[in-house]
Amino acid sequence: MNMHAKTADLLPEDYVLKLSPVQPQIEFRNVTKMYGKVAAVRDLSLTVRRGEFLTILGPSGSGKTTTLMLLAGFEAPSAGDIMIAGHSVAEVPSHRRDQGIVFQNYALFPHLTVIRNLEFPLEMRGVSAAERTTRVSRMLERVHLNDLGLRMPSQLSGGQQQRVGLARAFIADPPFLLLDEPLGALDRNLREQMQIEMKSLHKEFGITTVCVTHDQEEALTLSDRIVVMRAGKIEQIDSPEALYDRPATSFVAKFVGEANILENSGFGVESDTEQPTGTVAMIRPERIRIVAPEALTPADADRRQSVAGTVDDMIYAGPLRKYHVRVGSNVFVIREQVAAGQPIFRPSDEVRLNWLRSDVRFVAA
Ligand SMILES: Nc1ncnc2c1ncn2[C@@H]1O[C@H](COP(=O)(O)OP(=O)(O)OP(=O)(O)O)[C@@H](O)[C@H]1O
Ligand SMILES: [Mg+2]
Repeated sequence: MNMHAKTADLLPEDYVLKLSPVQPQIEFRNVTKMYGKVAAVRDLSLTVRRGEFLTILGPSGSGKTTTLMLLAGFEAPSAGDIMIAGHSVAEVPSHRRDQGIVFQNYALFPHLTVIRNLEFPLEMRGVSAAERTTRVSRMLERVHLNDLGLRMPSQLSGGQQQRVGLARAFIADPPFLLLDEPLGALDRNLREQMQIEMKSLHKEFGITTVCVTHDQEEALTLSDRIVVMRAGKIEQIDSPEALYDRPATSFVAKFVGEANILENSGFGVESDTEQPTGTVAMIRPERIRIVAPEALTPADADRRQSVAGTVDDMIYAGPLRKYHVRVGSNVFVIREQVAAGQPIFRPSDEVRLNWLRSDVRFVAA
C-alpha cells in the first residue's frame, strides 16, 4: 500500500520535479466581454509576468471567472485581445490546448485510482514509467495523500479530491496554470496547510499561475500580485503588502482587510500630508489604540491624534480582541492583540482612541 512513499524516500533531497520551463508572456489588451447587455469584463489590460502567482480577487459577479475563461480560450472577447507568447488566443484556438491549461476543479477521472489520475498527464507527455512512479509518489506526499494512492475518487472526501486535482494540475507542469477557487472545499486548517504547500509547489515548479478567489486572506498569503476587480474593471493591481498598506480606493481598503473611514466622525482629521481632493481618510483597525479616558498621555502624543468614543461591543477572537467604538455618528473597528494586564472595556464604557498621524491613509472615495 505504501510502496510509493518508500520510493520517494530513496530520492535525493534536492530532487526537482520540474521538466520544461517554457513560461509564456500573457497579456490582456483592452479586453471587454459582453453577455448581451451585461459587461462582465470591461476594458481590461493586464500583463501577467513570467513565473508569477497572480490572484484575481473580487466580490461575486465582478468578472473573475469570466477573465479566467477568456484566458483559457473558453470564451472569446467582445473587444480587445489576449496574447499568449505573442499569439492571439483568438488566432490559434487549438494551439492553446497544446499549452496544457489546467482548470482547477476536481474533475478527476472517476474510473482511475488516485495514482493513475496523476500518472495520466505524464503518460500523455511520454514520461517513462519509472519516472512517473517517482514523480507521483513525490507529489502525493506534497498534498498529504500518500496513503490514498490506490483509492478511487469516489472513495475520497471533497477536500481530498480537491488536493488530488491540485496535485494533478502541478504534476502536468503546464506552461501556465489557471485555478478557480482551488481550495474552496477545504476546512480552515487544511486550507492553511495547502496554501503553504501551494506556495512551495509554485516556487519549485515556477509555473505562471493565475488564481481566482474571493478569499482575501488566501490572496494575501499566496500571491506575488493581486488584481482587485470590481464590476468588470480592475480597481487596483499591486503586491499584497502594497494593497493592504496603500489601498488606492475605499473599495479596495474595505475589500482587502477592514477599514475605518474617518470622515464625518465629528472631528477634523490630522495628518502629516495634505489631503488630496476626492479622497477620504482611512485607518486600519490594528493601528488604533484604545485606552481609558483618564489614561496617561502617550509618550509620542505629538505624533498622534486622539478622540473620545463609547464602546458599542467587544468581541473575543482567539488571540485578538475586537472593539466597536462609536465616535460621533461613525462606528470604528479596533483590533488589538490580547496581552496580560491590558484593560478590557465593556459596552457603554467611555474610552479614548488614538493613532499615529502617519498611519492615516487617503483613498479615493
Ligand atoms: N454566460 C453568461 N451569460 C450572461 N451573463 C453572464 C454569464 N457568465 C457570467 N455572466 C455575468 O457576468 C458577470 C461576471 O460573472 P463572473 O462569473 O465572471 O463573476 P465572478 O467574479 O466569477 O463571481 P463569483 O465570485 O460569484 O464566482 C456577472 O454579472 C454574471 O452574471
Ligand atoms: Mg466565479
